[in-house]
Amino acid sequence: MQSEARMNVVILAAGQGKRMQSDLPKVLHPIAGKALLAHVLDTARALGGSRMVVVYGHGGEVVRERLASDDIVWAKQDPQLGTGHAVMQAVPHLDDAMPTLILYGDVPLTRVLTLKKLIAAAGRGMAVLTVDLADPTGYGRIVRDNGALRRIVEHKDASAEERAIREVNTGILIAPTAKLKAWLGGLSNNNAQKEYYLTDVIAMAVAEGVTVASAQPADEWETLGVNSRAQLAELERIHQRNIANVLLEAGVSLADPARIDVRGSLVCGRDTAIDVNCVFEGEVVLGSRVTVAANCVLRNVRVGDDTRIEPFCHIDGAEVGRDNRIGPWARLRPGTKLADHVHIGNFVEVKASDIGEGSKANHLAYIGDTSIGKNVNVGAGTITCNYDGVNKHRTVIEDDAFIGSDTQLVAPVRVGRGATLGAGTTLTKDAPEGKLTISRAKQITIENWSRPVKKPKSK
Ligand code: UD1
Ligand code: CA
Repeated sequence: MQSEARMNVVILAAGQGKRMQSDLPKVLHPIAGKALLAHVLDTARALGGSRMVVVYGHGGEVVRERLASDDIVWAKQDPQLGTGHAVMQAVPHLDDAMPTLILYGDVPLTRVLTLKKLIAAAGRGMAVLTVDLADPTGYGRIVRDNGALRRIVEHKDASAEERAIREVNTGILIAPTAKLKAWLGGLSNNNAQKEYYLTDVIAMAVAEGVTVASAQPADEWETLGVNSRAQLAELERIHQRNIANVLLEAGVSLADPARIDVRGSLVCGRDTAIDVNCVFEGEVVLGSRVTVAANCVLRNVRVGDDTRIEPFCHIDGAEVGRDNRIGPWARLRPGTKLADHVHIGNFVEVKASDIGEGSKANHLAYIGDTSIGKNVNVGAGTITCNYDGVNKHRTVIEDDAFIGSDTQLVAPVRVGRGATLGAGTTLTKDAPEGKLTISRAKQITIENWSRPVKKPKSK
């Protein structure tokens, strides 16, 4: 259910992003695994029921395809003649009954709270998000008169005196829509860059007696844009550090808050500890007192309380119960469901399988398309042969079974409750419960056999 739209949001994303040196449009480059523009769209959505117009440019069709959504209207700007010209392309889609908020598609980290402050500051008038910078070079300067915002002058058009102003335009602003449309119609490109400057509407508003308020973000990084890969990497670290801080405040231990990457959402219980160089993708939920050792990658995973994940595990699309011990070097693939007190050891791969309480596969195994009951021991080197080259088949191992080392279970096959399979068995028929089943060539010793000896070399 979409609540009623309260404002138009225009997102400027037509800039070419030449400094990225990339075939990918700039706004599709990711922060925390999500496209820059997708961050901005989500922020706009979080403001509540907004009509969004994205202004895209040359080569931007791929942006439309990748981020297609019913709540977005796309407006093409080609050629790109400045920020004012960009907003003009959105004009036919703007509803006069509500104000228009302008955001940049390459400024991904603005807080929703900051935008709410800006909207509140505007009231029924206009407001600009500004920030004081130690080095304002390149930015539009905020020119005030007795504290009142009068106009914005672009760096290239500014006098030496104006260039000394440290309060700059972040580019984010909100304006009454009908008036904005009229002001846009009056823009000229008579300036140093021969561009239609959106910023010129401020002086027009002031001339009409519309008050122009301002608001400031709590943090400077909220207004940082991406023009190069270096800036992209910088924003990634800022964003990750923010996520790390939230985890620390929620009672999670991080061995090094600078060495964790969350590309999605990570929710943890109390006293969970995460060692260095772990990556979390998609939706990950860790219980309380979970430990994730160094160098693990977890993606779309749920992990129960008190489970230990040892170093170098790759866990994808799995549900892991309480008090498990996983790894080191374990791989859990989609469809894996581990009950409580399960051990999965080194070089064990599990896929689309359920493993019951107290069962163990501690070394070198492949368990695919399998249902394993409780307290089963899977010996080293056990392989489920689940694929006949055409179809996948299931293996069932009932409670208390013992699978000897180096066993192949040729699916479909069932191992009965309490059955034992001798080491080296190739199981092609069901193993009855409670019995020892073994398929192994009888061991023989050849008497009177001697090793061949090397023939003397003939001259
Ligand atoms: C603009 C502001 C400047 C402000 C700065 C903050 C104007 C005239 N200047 O500078 O006051 O300090 O942002 O970063 O508004 N874009 C288009 N179409 C265009 C031009 C730009 O879609 O024709 C988009 C870009 O993709 C980008 C944003 O608008 O997302 C800003 O463009 P950019 O060239 O970085 O800003 P400036 O004009 O230098
Ligand atoms: Ca620029």
